[in-house]
Amino acid sequence: MTGAPSNARTRKPVISRLVRAAAHSPISEARARAAVEPSGTGLPLLDVAQATPGYPPAPGLQRRMAELDHRAVSRYGPVLGEAPLREALARELTFAYRAPVRPEQAAITAGANQAFCLAVSVLCEPGDEVILPIPYYFNHDMWLAINGVEAVYLPCSGDMLPSPADADALLTERTRAVVLVTPNNPTGRVYPPALISAFADLAAERGICLILDETYRHFRSTAEPAHHLFRDPDWDRHLIHIDSFSKVYAITGYRVGGLAASPGLLTEAEKVADCLTICPNRLGQEAALYGLGRLEGWVEENRRAASRRIGEFTKTAGGRPYEVASAGGHFVYVRHPFEGAPAREVAQRLYDEQAVLALSGDMFGPGQDRYLRLAFANVSDSDVPELARRLAESALMFA
Ligand SMILES: Cc1ncc(COP(=O)(O)O)c(C=O)c1O
Repeated sequence: MTGAPSNARTRKPVISRLVRAAAHSPISEARARAAVEPSGTGLPLLDVAQATPGYPPAPGLQRRMAELDHRAVSRYGPVLGEAPLREALARELTFAYRAPVRPEQAAITAGANQAFCLAVSVLCEPGDEVILPIPYYFNHDMWLAINGVEAVYLPCSGDMLPSPADADALLTERTRAVVLVTPNNPTGRVYPPALISAFADLAAERGICLILDETYRHFRSTAEPAHHLFRDPDWDRHLIHIDSFSKVYAITGYRVGGLAASPGLLTEAEKVADCLTICPNRLGQEAALYGLGRLEGWVEENRRAASRRIGEFTKTAGGRPYEVASAGGHFVYVRHPFEGAPAREVAQRLYDEQAVLALSGDMFGPGQDRYLRLAFANVSDSDVPELARRLAESALMFA
């Protein structure tokens, strides 16, 4: 106890300035909002806040989980995932992109979120910079802030696409990476392959990394490769690819994702992953392994359903009076009609007066106050016209 100040017992612990300064996840805020009943609407809740599939995993996957040998899967496993799953992921990437990815380039993580955290921890020191298109996926911004890495914002244009030339103009000596998310969260925008290539070229030319988060890749409307980056035999010099099993197999709680990168980078990431999780959840890995190669039909059915609902919503509600700014994957990003009203206030009123739980644009970065994000993973077909009706009514009520 020597040297401890006399009032040490009564003082609060010092919390890191970086952690304190980081924003809270908007999902926690939306949950807190939903904990208070919308007063007097008499309407059932329409939850379009979180991109979590509302349906259970495929029956075969559930049966597989029940049959597991728990003596094996309850123990620690390899830090970067089980070899059969790494091999299966590498095979699936090779098939999906029609270009070779080797198992030693494919690691398993505790979800796409952890894959991003590992990438940033390996690439960046405090004071470094990462280019983050706006609107961003909030956990990306949070992790950069918590690590003292400066997020340099790259505003997207009206079509919700980031420009490689604008990104180039933001690069400095301290830039370590540029981040792309496609299909995008929150906008749903699917980036054209040529745009993704242009960012990869920029990264290669400027000696930085492209961190490409394709969590929603299975929800695109085509089986054509989303891009051709893996065709470059040296892709792993500048590309870090982030993947998720969460949405595709409806196993968000099992925490399992992928990280494709150079074996050298993965060796460094292994140190970080070891400290964080020791190994990815082994139940989740079994689920992902079952899914890969067995659930294409089931995945396609769910993809079609999400796409049908988004298409239906866009047809019914678009422009009347919420304008669809972009749509795809799991999301529709709408421009609300209330000029000057902060998006957060619009989201709160939508909840209070129409029992619609949506996320406000300001949660996805500066300059997003005219937007709301609607997630379509958790709604039924019949919810869609009802959602459109309530939005239209809200415009009349707020006016
Ligand atoms: C762009 C993006 N990346 C990562 C994640 C997290 O995925 P996982 O559950 O695999 O960690 C999400 C989840 O919403 C997301 O939208």
